[in-house]
Amino acid sequence: MQDRAEQLGDKVVYQIYVRSFNDSNGDGIGDLKGITQRLDYLKSLGVDYLWITPFFTSPQNDNGYDVANYREVEPMFGTMEDFDELSREARARGIGLMLDMVFNHTSTSHEWFQKALAGDSKYLAYYKFADAAPDATAENPGEPPTNWISKFGGNAWEYVPSLNKWYLHLFDVSQADLNWDNPEVRAELVDVIKFWKAKGVSGFRFDVVNLISKPEVLENDYEGDGRRFYTDGPHIHEYLQELVREGGIDGMVTVGEMSSTSIDNCIRYSAPRYHELSQTFSFHHLKVDYLNGNKWALQEPDIKALRNLLRDWQEQMTAGGGWNALFWSNHDQPRPNSRFGDCSTEECWRRSSELLPTCTHLMRGTPYIYQGEELGMTNPDFTSIDQYRDVESLNYYKILQDEGKTPEEAFHIVCERSRDDGRTPVQWDGTLNAGFTTGTPWIGIPQNHVTINAKAEVADPDSVWAYFHHLICLRKATPVVQKGGVHFLDAISDKVIAYERTVEDAAKGPSRLVVLCNFSGESQAALTEETVAGGSAFVSNCDDFKFEDGKLVLGPWAAVALAW
Ligand code: GLC
Ligand code: CA
Repeated sequence: MQDRAEQLGDKVVYQIYVRSFNDSNGDGIGDLKGITQRLDYLKSLGVDYLWITPFFTSPQNDNGYDVANYREVEPMFGTMEDFDELSREARARGIGLMLDMVFNHTSTSHEWFQKALAGDSKYLAYYKFADAAPDATAENPGEPPTNWISKFGGNAWEYVPSLNKWYLHLFDVSQADLNWDNPEVRAELVDVIKFWKAKGVSGFRFDVVNLISKPEVLENDYEGDGRRFYTDGPHIHEYLQELVREGGIDGMVTVGEMSSTSIDNCIRYSAPRYHELSQTFSFHHLKVDYLNGNKWALQEPDIKALRNLLRDWQEQMTAGGGWNALFWSNHDQPRPNSRFGDCSTEECWRRSSELLPTCTHLMRGTPYIYQGEELGMTNPDFTSIDQYRDVESLNYYKILQDEGKTPEEAFHIVCERSRDDGRTPVQWDGTLNAGFTTGTPWIGIPQNHVTINAKAEVADPDSVWAYFHHLICLRKATPVVQKGGVHFLDAISDKVIAYERTVEDAAKGPSRLVVLCNFSGESQAALTEETVAGGSAFVSNCDDFKFEDGKLVLGPWAAVALAW
């Protein structure tokens, strides 16, 4: 049995959202050649793998998560030659590529769905179709098969008059859910894996993969939006094991995006003995600012809840042999410094931008850096709904008003919660369009690119970029970070997250670390002096921590790790 810490303990992954990373041809959209041009930058940061979001043929209703052909490159992102060049150049620098497999659904433009629409029974069986009432019409289709709600708003079923059937779409109406109970579908997807594996990629990220197994009986959900019926569904582990075995990817670096999942399931998804994936993304810790679990209702982040979630996932995944992907951000999330920190002054911005990675990079698991996070990029300063592009944001801007919010209130919520907050172009330099494109960028660029940008930060030893670089180097050099056990400590203040890492056989470096992070804008008491007696500073985002009345007190947004 391979131990995940041996396999992955010293690795760091960097996520590239292609459309917003770097534009090589001036059409305002990032592309594969644009990534190749920036490989030296990524190499100097020190990352091991690049997770590249979908660049396959797609109508782009969900920016590529609506795939129309899994084996072709979408022309707006380049050509297969561009991909091969990227792959070669990355390998030459010791960087592996992880491709994003969107296997829960295809675009309705996919050939399979088009054949289904034409009535071909083979392909009807590729999707989740359900019969409508015999007297259903386009004007009056009747009740959908269930009351499940799409993740992007509205009912999750769409009526097709020409077939007198409904199809399931857990996401956009143009993203039809595949029928994984059909062995032919599973075989098709295995072939897709083999195709990209043969091209020499290092691994895969699987999009919302814990939603693929739907229940046999479709029933209304009177308690929620339907997710409890299809999340971690009845055959999920069997289907994943088959995909991994038949695709020949056991032991590769693979990560599953697990929506609303449980620790027990994630242990099965990621512990080596189950032969499924090598790590999991879970999202509970990114819902601590959702009022009553509702993404579109705002509340201040509940740091105590955050701390308890991180504790449970760290400690219990470790006990079960599972492995966590460690992250605050991705292309679906607002920028974490704007969200959990304070970007209103330069010093608060810098501390917040460094506090967050201090907290995750020293945990047990694999840290993910989402493009621009290493620069401290923030949410944009958009002032009008016209500046937003994302289908989910635009849907909810309407839905919130239908629910009685004023346009101003709805706009404010969208600003805080939009996926576009994390999708503005990478700020490469301080020039017009931030060095991202010579044309007109597909989405606006925050004003703060004048100071927050790669060119300035790579040259500055005290920058947020330099701090990320340092954290990566520390992981690579330090066994206790790579493979130590993890145990959460009870901090004196609820605003402080505190944990300890220990390892018995540290060949080098410390055998014990205590990590302390103040998630607030005020000084907070972290631990008693005796708990941390004899520890020396291992890494910190500022020197604003000291002993007062027998306690270690951290200044605003301070993060420090002590070592023994
Ligand atoms: C995942 C992706 C997201 C996409 C959704 C549907 O959550 O990260 O961007 O919209 O799946 O494919
Ligand atoms: Ca381009």
